[in-house]
Amino acid sequence: MSFDLSICCMGAGYVGGPTMAVIAKNCPNIRVCVVDLNAKQIDAWNSAELPIYEPGLKEVVESCRGKNLFFSTSIESEIALADIVFISVNTPTKTQGIGAGRAANIKNCELCARTIAKVATTNKIVVEKSTVPVRTADAVRRVLACNDKGLEFQVLSNPEFLAEGTAIDDLEKPSRVLIGGEETPGGQAAIAKLVSVYANWVPSSQIITTNLWSSELSKLVANAFLAQRVSSINSISALCESTGADVSEISRAIGSDPRIGPRFLQSSVGFGGSCFQKDILNLVYLCETFGLDECAEYWHQVIKMNDYQKSRFTQKMVSRMFNTATGKKIAILGFAFKKDTGDTRETASAFVCRDLMQEKARLHVYDPQVKREQMMIEFDYTLNVNTTTEPDLEKLITTETDVYKACEGAHAIAVLTEWDEFKGLDYERIYKGMSKPAFVFDGRNVVDIKTLREIGFEVYAIGKPWPKE
Ligand code: UDX
Ligand code: UDX
Ligand code: ADP
Repeated sequence: MSFDLSICCMGAGYVGGPTMAVIAKNCPNIRVCVVDLNAKQIDAWNSAELPIYEPGLKEVVESCRGKNLFFSTSIESEIALADIVFISVNTPTKTQGIGAGRAANIKNCELCARTIAKVATTNKIVVEKSTVPVRTADAVRRVLACNDKGLEFQVLSNPEFLAEGTAIDDLEKPSRVLIGGEETPGGQAAIAKLVSVYANWVPSSQIITTNLWSSELSKLVANAFLAQRVSSINSISALCESTGADVSEISRAIGSDPRIGPRFLQSSVGFGGSCFQKDILNLVYLCETFGLDECAEYWHQVIKMNDYQKSRFTQKMVSRMFNTATGKKIAILGFAFKKDTGDTRETASAFVCRDLMQEKARLHVYDPQVKREQMMIEFDYTLNVNTTTEPDLEKLITTETDVYKACEGAHAIAVLTEWDEFKGLDYERIYKGMSKPAFVFDGRNVVDIKTLREIGFEVYAIGKPWPKE
């Protein structure tokens, strides 16, 4: 079959995979190929068990795979074929060198640009999909200019706003699509081309076009504003626990003001995910780079509040359990950074587990989507907890596939991800099997406090009044 256009996406991760699947579904005349250096990842995309869990993703992939959607490790030949190349690779926070702990490492983006420059034989539009520091397009453009075949490359910024767990819905019905490009005729033509792809299913009034730098910066700012709302309500949750106010009532009361709005006011044990912390740190680093120290400090506070929220939760747990968690069995309900995903990057649950392990508690972790191997990677990678720093790691953490088994004989339950199934558990049965007093610490406000107290549990929930000790 012949196609009108060919798209290649470098990076088959949480962003590249779902985004390309939805483009393929809505544009049968476009050939879409997702490539990755990681052959295991590509094999998984080509199998019945996709590498990521995302509601509705499997159906979309299966409806297009082999027709106009392909997954491949033939990076160079697929780039050569493409009219539009998306760069959708990971850009983690630097761990070493200049800007360590703050700046995003755009090494992978640069490598992609180098590969494109090397293998291109026709003009291409190169689209930054990955979140990048402002002016990365400059670097990409300069690397592309090293191609000596006289080709024209246009660099666009088209940041992704999908959230994990709702990726397919967010892609099918985006609140907006943002495309930034150069303010030259060539740049405008490239923007028009990419707009025509999205126009297959997104109303044109929802496609926003800007200059390159506004687009790159908007992505960081969007995530910073969202995270700021979570940190703001979390700071209020601490005040509620001390004063007798109820954070859910406050969220409702303030969220009904249309100037504030109701979303992202759910108090929690802390935000996680691959984007919020990384993007804010990136924003902080940018501000510092331009000497805007007050602006940097303002945004840094969002992260500090999140760190405080995570450690505050564990401290309160321990203090309620008579100031010791040593040897106690604690059931950890949820390890993913939010419900409906198996992603554990920067998950608050890992921080709470780490702190409880330092108290030598015995943790029995249940999460419907996260495997033990993934948990261990998270401890090692984000928290630097490994068998060297925590020799008892393997002993202190048991992973359970049955939530009731996780709770059997436990002194306490900590709810750390808001999976729907935690609302409907048989808490009478759980209570009977637990050590008494049986504690529930709800870091997500999912349990019905009144019912659980009637059963006999001692319940403490984030942002709800905590009786004085
Ligand atoms: C505010 C609250 O909005 C209102 O609900 C409360 O009852 C009293 O305080 P007010 O002070 O009258 O009302 O004005 P508001 O429209 O909120 O503006 C406050 C300040 O913020 C003004 O100086 C305004 O210019 C400024 N502002 C507001 C901005 O700089 N940018 C904005 O986007 C909005
Ligand atoms: C986020 C942005 O929402 C998305 O637009 C961007 O493209 C990527 O980063 P994601 O990280 O997938 O998406 O999830 P999100 O729903 O934003 O949640 C982030 C974290 O904040 C989660 O840990 C979540 O539990 C927490 N959160 C969110 C709260 O604690 N309270 C809320 O009210 C909302
Ligand atoms: P995101 O959440 O931004 O999608 P992921 O880590 O899930 O990030 O996915 C990024 C993917 O990009 C990984 O599968 C990684 O192997 C891939 N990748 C990184 N560098 C390159 C590269 N130079 N060429 C192709 N793929 C790459």
